[in-house]
Amino acid sequence: MKNDQLIIFDTTLRDGEQSPGAAMTKEEKIRIARQLEKLGVNVIEAGFAAASPGDFEAIHAVAEVIKKSTVCSLARANENDIRRAGEAIKPAKHGRIHTFIATSPIHMENKLRMTPDQVLERAIQAVKWAKEYTDDVEFSAEDAVRSEMDFLVKVFTAVIEAGAKTINVPDTVGYSIPALWGERMQQLIARVPNSDKVVWSTHCHNDLGMAVANSLAAVMAGARQVECTINGLGERAGNASLEEIVMAVKTRRDVFNLETSIDTTQIVPTSKLISTITGYPVQPNKAVVGANAFAHESGIHQDGVLKHRETYEIMRAEDVGWGANKLTLGKLSGRNAFRTRLKELGIELESEDALNAAFARFKELADKKSEIFDEDIQALVSDEVLGEGDDTFKLVYLHVASQTGETPHAIVTVSDNGEEKRAEADGGGPVDAAFKAIESIVSSGAELQLYSVNNITSGTDAQGEVTVRLSKGGRIVNGQGADTDIVIASAKAYLNGLNKLHPRFERAHPQV
Ligand code: KIV
Ligand code: ZN
Repeated sequence: MKNDQLIIFDTTLRDGEQSPGAAMTKEEKIRIARQLEKLGVNVIEAGFAAASPGDFEAIHAVAEVIKKSTVCSLARANENDIRRAGEAIKPAKHGRIHTFIATSPIHMENKLRMTPDQVLERAIQAVKWAKEYTDDVEFSAEDAVRSEMDFLVKVFTAVIEAGAKTINVPDTVGYSIPALWGERMQQLIARVPNSDKVVWSTHCHNDLGMAVANSLAAVMAGARQVECTINGLGERAGNASLEEIVMAVKTRRDVFNLETSIDTTQIVPTSKLISTITGYPVQPNKAVVGANAFAHESGIHQDGVLKHRETYEIMRAEDVGWGANKLTLGKLSGRNAFRTRLKELGIELESEDALNAAFARFKELADKKSEIFDEDIQALVSDEVLGEGDDTFKLVYLHVASQTGETPHAIVTVSDNGEEKRAEADGGGPVDAAFKAIESIVSSGAELQLYSVNNITSGTDAQGEVTVRLSKGGRIVNGQGADTDIVIASAKAYLNGLNKLHPRFERAHPQV
């Protein structure tokens, strides 16, 4: 890798997945990985193989389909985790193991209950185990931000000696500020022997809203890999957001003098896909990918932009993919056009039956909605096809009566493992009635923590995309559903959440 290249390491499928409720299925991870490859990321951290059999399989499947980007699995610094990671990435054309151990006094004493010498020894051993599977080994010193500098230098020196090729310096708790983070990176590069033989990387969390600024400060100090996520998704307040890092480096090329391999026109489609799959909406004023990022409200600004766009715009909307999602298909489009568009969107259905089912849903939608956009197709595929085969609960029928002065009433039929069950319930509103009827069938006891509706495209005939967040026994999941009828979308979202609460989706957390 040339020194004027900035490596983009995307961890949406791993750290992003650590956001409450953002756990993804294998099919969803494959779809996202394909889009990330199209976006041009260098490394896709596809998950944490030892977390669960499902996560292992997802990484393995991503490793099978991704050819250009490197596919990486996270592993704690223990033999079992590393062997699981090694097996999971085996099919990858380019595979990486990312192993980590905490190096700060607070983590070593209270979490690991290990002495610094034990941590040092384990870090070296972890890299050696990983090298049995791939030469591309990354080592991270978790909580580097609160680690002692001399100890960090000692650990990094030793793991480079053991064969690590990338050294990642994480601000695990989002504690740093740009000037200090840049200085830390610069000192490490200066003090660690053979620092020019490895790629220095940074991984920043956003607890104080400085993840992007800190990452860029590290880049200014010599880091040549940034770990980031789409939409800034991630543990707690999230990670540095990929789109902001990439557009900062591109827009301020005069300052950074670096290139990335990102096709920036794929940024907005990728952001929308992540939002649809995880159920995490993008705030309207979010830089680059927010709905208002290029909207000019004040008259003076509008006037300026009309006269000369650069008066108020430092980036062009089309360069980051706004407007790329065009009107694609309509009522008269045939199966071949539908199949071709799916392919262009990176969606590959597993069988002809799955394609037929999706096409039938598309025709149904086209009857209700005159214009079908890429977002509609993404939602339709998420909602109706992927993973449907192994869902425990499926919506079969819903009837809701709601009129002024009357109590809303719902009648619902749900397929529970293939057995159709019917229930009725009253509610405060039509959605409440539908949820109560479903609950009386499934008796999940899950608590509804969040309910939100967004329109997928514009117009009153647009599909509504509903997200629900459910919690039960300490687990949190997000469920999504889309339909032109928002009560039906709500029922689908509720059932989708209940399906995700199934024990087969349980997983271990890498940092606990
Ligand atoms: O935040 C963190 O320290 C991490 C490591 C596993 C790299 O996610
Ligand atoms: Zn992290």
